[in-house]
Amino acid sequence: MPDLSWTNLGFNPVETNSIIVSRFKDGVWSEPQSVNSVEFSINFFAGSLHYASSCFEGLKAFRGADGKVRIFRPEENADRMTRSADFLAMPSPSKAMFLEMVARAVKENIEFLPPYGFNASMYIRPLIFGSSPQLGVATPAEVTFAVMVSPVGAYVGKTLVPVSAVLVRNYDRAAPNGSGSYKISANYAPSLRPYKIAHEQGFGEILFLDSSTHSCIDEFGSSNFIGIKDGVYVTPLSSSILPSITNKSLRTIAEDLGIKVERRPVSVEELQDFQEVGACGTAVVITPIHSITDKPALESEELTRTYSFGEKDKCGHVLHRMYDVIRGIQDGTEEDIHNWCMIL
Ligand SMILES: Cc1ncc(COP(=O)(O)O)c(C=O)c1O
Repeated sequence: MPDLSWTNLGFNPVETNSIIVSRFKDGVWSEPQSVNSVEFSINFFAGSLHYASSCFEGLKAFRGADGKVRIFRPEENADRMTRSADFLAMPSPSKAMFLEMVARAVKENIEFLPPYGFNASMYIRPLIFGSSPQLGVATPAEVTFAVMVSPVGAYVGKTLVPVSAVLVRNYDRAAPNGSGSYKISANYAPSLRPYKIAHEQGFGEILFLDSSTHSCIDEFGSSNFIGIKDGVYVTPLSSSILPSITNKSLRTIAEDLGIKVERRPVSVEELQDFQEVGACGTAVVITPIHSITDKPALESEELTRTYSFGEKDKCGHVLHRMYDVIRGIQDGTEEDIHNWCMIL
């Protein structure tokens, strides 16, 4: 049994028993193997290190109140990974192979799955990357698919404790016809500097705008935007944001609860109309946002305006209710009426 404190996990990688790996070479995927070390050797000329030929996924396994192990919507992640790999002109595993390797990674590391009741889970990170040497810009000849796991707690701060965010006006995450809707590693590089500056200024999250007009909300650095306006669930429709599986699930939950859903462009000015704002994603589930600060530039000391939502230290009741339902489905305490969970 690993010597872990389930209460203080945070979001850092923990070394587990094994990583499940398969290699694509000469048109076929190799038989998946368990690798017992987080270290491996790679050619310095590997395409992923130079040309970002890599994409990944993030999903979670939960130990339920009934003792069962549930993986939340893994088929959605399999489909999204295929879309991302296609975008990079790289091969991806079949859905069956993806699900089998994900299940195997959880099973082989089962003692790292946090018990029920600690608000902790096992994060599953499938990764595809170009692993063969190359010098020219081209699709890699050989690709590696690895599935890693790590026990995790809250992504930022404490569960359901609101954080502040800042609008990013002078850095763009993705171009209108670019890569924003794919979960490729290259999308995260443009957020590293804005995140660093924002964190140094005490903000918990960064909010990107559409890069062509900077007038509409795209998404947070690592999660989608949700706003509650007079009881309606509003979330941006944009071709440059990641189609979040959490957001998709919350939209269904909202409809099940009789909450109206609007998925459409959301202007910056509309921020003043929201009573609740949240950032949603697998890692964060829902992080309530208590304020969004608008500045001419991230580095600027000057503030244009700060929008505030609800109480500073309390999640609003609509988002709280939705959080309870999605977490209940993941924990097996709410009925899984849409058959979202894969039970191991
Ligand atoms: C940029 C970005 N947007 C949104 C999300 C949320 O997506 P999901 O709910 O599928 O985890 C993530 C996290 O995976 C992300 O990295």
